[in-house]
Amino acid sequence: MPLNFVQSSTVFWAEKIMRKSLANNLVITPVKEEVKRKAKPGHTYMLYIHVPFCHTFCSYCSFHKFYYNEEKALQYFSFVRHELRKVKEQGYDFETLYVGGGTTLINEPELIKTLEYAKSLFSIKEVSCESDPNHIAPGSLRRFRGLIDRLSIGVQSFDDGILKRIGRHEKFGSGEEIQEKLLRIGGVLPTTSIDLIFNFPGQTEEIVLRDVITAQALDIDQITTYPLMQSNLMKKSISKAFDSQKSDNEYRFFELIRGAMNQYRPINGWAFSRQEEQLSDEYVGSHSEYVGVGSGSFSFLDGTLHVNAFDLDQYMQKIANEESAVIASCAFTPKQRVQYQFMTSLFDGVVHIDTFNQTLHTNLERTMNKEIAMLKLAGAIDVSNGMIVPTEFGAYVSLVLMREFYTGMDQVRAMFRPQAALEKIVNL
Ligand SMILES: C[S@@+](CC[C@H](N)C(=O)[O-])C[C@H]1O[C@@H](n2cnc3c(N)ncnc32)[C@H](O)[C@@H]1O
Ligand code: SF4
Repeated sequence: MPLNFVQSSTVFWAEKIMRKSLANNLVITPVKEEVKRKAKPGHTYMLYIHVPFCHTFCSYCSFHKFYYNEEKALQYFSFVRHELRKVKEQGYDFETLYVGGGTTLINEPELIKTLEYAKSLFSIKEVSCESDPNHIAPGSLRRFRGLIDRLSIGVQSFDDGILKRIGRHEKFGSGEEIQEKLLRIGGVLPTTSIDLIFNFPGQTEEIVLRDVITAQALDIDQITTYPLMQSNLMKKSISKAFDSQKSDNEYRFFELIRGAMNQYRPINGWAFSRQEEQLSDEYVGSHSEYVGVGSGSFSFLDGTLHVNAFDLDQYMQKIANEESAVIASCAFTPKQRVQYQFMTSLFDGVVHIDTFNQTLHTNLERTMNKEIAMLKLAGAIDVSNGMIVPTEFGAYVSLVLMREFYTGMDQVRAMFRPQAALEKIVNL
């Protein structure tokens, strides 16, 4: 069903508020003094490691990456391990590690060494790692047994037309070839997940449905369906790839996907799971505080967002000098922290009001009374028994908020990326 007037206005309002809030409040300024991080005893954090290399670039992707160079990558991984040691010295411990990219498995021996090292330093129990269809041969993945618990593979679409347009058909194979690769890895690692993207310009309902049905038939543990995010940075290359940047079917496709994912249950605004207990996909959503290691990674600690150096040489130099890799920061006000945490909790499917208030030392219903009243009025949330739960429409609103948040983070990446690297991405 199309959005009614109240629902469309709510979506418009949510987008506007998020854009305004990011523009006004996400003011990230270069740090003047070295950032000295220190863990709070007994506190839970999540660890993120970034691997910023790819062999080729895809037209929609603005993640921080450079073209692969083996020599640089070897140096880089060794500096990442060095940074991990520094994090340990700062008193941090982690049970959860998320490795993202770029192409995380681009140099398998180095990744193995880094994962083993991280596990030797910290109490890590769960490791999630991104990958792509070229790095999932069962023989290779077996080497990661005991090191990776959840592998999330970027498929994006099984449709050859779309794969060609986004520059992945040649690189990763046709939709059918990708399916064959995925069928071979069943049971190699504890949990396998695939990423799909919907709302590409010109994408039809048939293509979206076929993607979702194909994904479910592969018996994959989790499926994440991201709405296409078009930051200002990527608009040009997306419209060049599709001869258009118009993609206004987001809600229709969202509904279609939720309806068609009948063998799976939603675990957050855009991820679905076949199993009861699952490792979560969104490190931003599920872990309020995290430490980012590696070039271009973000940390969120004590209400402050920190940005590690994007320039590879600068990053490596800083670590070699035993300095912090953080080059810029942005402190959230208590109200912004509440808003951010409310958004991520809603996206995860429930806000437990008492726990929320205790963790953030706030009174959620007072701090966000206007927003909560608006969402209630629009039928986006139900408030009862001390919990705030998004309705089906509310799940879409939380997806819109998250999409805007991620798009805003792209602007941050654009601000700090070395100019040459930025031009390579924008001019694809
Ligand atoms: C950083 S990528 C790494 C995945 C891996 N390198 C690959 O190519 O398969 C992680 C996921 O982010 C998602 N992603 C990247 N850019 C996106 C965009 N503009 N809109 C929506 N999702 C995006 C894709 O689904 C992708 O699989
Ligand atoms: S989506 Fe493409 S460009 Fe982005 S990280 Fe994966 S391979 Fe690299």
